[in-house]
Amino acid sequence: MEGFDYLLLSSRWLHIAAAILAIGGAAFMRLVLIPAAKVSLSEGEHERLRETLRRRWAPLVHACIVILLLTGSLNFVLLALPPKIKPLPYHPIFGVKFLAALAVFFIASILAGKAPGFAAMRQQRAKWLTIILLLAGLIVLLSGVLGQVRTSGMAKPATPAVQPTSA
Ligand code: HEM
Repeated sequence: MEGFDYLLLSSRWLHIAAAILAIGGAAFMRLVLIPAAKVSLSEGEHERLRETLRRRWAPLVHACIVILLLTGSLNFVLLALPPKIKPLPYHPIFGVKFLAALAVFFIASILAGKAPGFAAMRQQRAKWLTIILLLAGLIVLLSGVLGQVRTSGMAKPATPAVQPTSA
């Protein structure tokens, strides 16, 4: 198919697949697994389950973070570098999304890690998973806004003035 951008399609597919896996996993843990384990397991069993889950979940979280950073950067280069679009208001909105994504990556890495300095944060796992889910909601909203800003008249680059040619 002529004019069909396979690189952009693959990059967006991978980006969305990694977001679904990472955020879907966090939602499952916060809304289903933690409440179910609390009422049906003893503290010792719960602790063993937490450690087993952590070991299986950590490599997936790290892979999703790397994929989101690589495909997100590629999406940005392919879609949003001037002169393709005007920087305002796309780039500041992208900046807020990027900072929110970095906060999600930081919290997710702490929860999936073992660093003793962050043990207190891991003890409040449910609270931090809720924060991840709220930030993810904001990120997906901002991603939709970015798409609309880019495809609406707002981001159309200014057409260069035609230079008069001297005879
Ligand atoms: C938790 C992390 C993230 C989530 C949940 C997320 C989610 C999404 C979603 C749902 C879209 C819309 C896809 C589409 O319409 O095709 C998107 C687009 C995009 N994402 Fe992400 N993303 C995340 C992190 C990142 C990062 C770290 C970057 C940059 C390094 C990034 C850059 C982009 C760009 C440039 C677009 C295209 C926006 C447009 O249509 O103009 N994303 N993202």
